Amino acid sequence: MSYYIVFAGKGGTGKSTLAALTVRYLREKFLKPILAVDADPNYCLPDLLGIKEVETLAEIRDNALLRKPDGMSLDEWLEIEINRILRESEGFDLLVMGRPEGKGCYCAVNNVLKRIISEISGNYMYIVVDNEAGMEHISRGILDKIDILFIVGTPAKSSIQAALRIKELIKQVGINPKKNIFIVNQATHKMDEINRDFEKIFYVNFDVNLKKLSERGEDIFSLQDNSAIIKSFYKILEEEIE
Ligand SMILES: Nc1ncnc2c1ncn2[C@@H]1O[C@H](COP(=O)(O)OP(=O)(O)OP(=O)(O)O)[C@@H](O)[C@H]1O
Ligand SMILES: [Mg+2]
Repeated sequence: MSYYIVFAGKGGTGKSTLAALTVRYLREKFLKPILAVDADPNYCLPDLLGIKEVETLAEIRDNALLRKPDGMSLDEWLEIEINRILRESEGFDLLVMGRPEGKGCYCAVNNVLKRIISEISGNYMYIVVDNEAGMEHISRGILDKIDILFIVGTPAKSSIQAALRIKELIKQVGINPKKNIFIVNQATHKMDEINRDFEKIFYVNFDVNLKKLSERGEDIFSLQDNSAIIKSFYKILEEEIE
């Protein structure tokens, strides 16, 4: 059974960074096979993981009926295409979702996609999902299980309100995460107010090395082992991942 580690939270709080760091952590601990899923239409996980060119699931979906060779079923074609775009990197695979389906999209394609994704997911021990702030893919039912939900926020009231909305949305789509964890990222001090709303709260400090790395557009593997964010976030992962 795959273990799902899912990141959500308000825009710009550090979801993608922490998702990429989780992939790095799992790889270093030889906890594999790993699938990284970028569920943000404005994807940046590939860059953070050092992958330059990607083709998205949305591109496959939107062109499926046009490109499918005659005589091949939609199932067969989508399965071939998804396996083609599943980027095999050193120690992990990457699936980039792209845009959620638009109005003119064919249900047939989506239903087949959902089935194939759930089949493919079964091949991985760990699945790390980076979401967009709006949670479109989650509300459209692309996920049906979450082991750890990391809701990432900054030390701001608006961030906590967004976190509570996300918690509620996930409940509404019928997912009951085994763990709901709130991460106050880029923290400068402890916040008292949030304690009653989440089972667990962790603080990850602001890391100047990460900021510089991000400015230079370097990947997460370039971050030094002794950097502040690695020390504090790895400790959380060690405690929480089963
Ligand atoms: N602990 C931290 N210390 C310093 N900088 C950080 C920290 N966490 C994240 N950042 C920086 O904050 C910026 C936003 O981070 P990131 O892209 O991971 O957020 P996000 O929640 O995925 O954003 P979006 O909603 O746009 O997808 C990046 O430049 C990142 O390097
Ligand atoms: Mg992001």
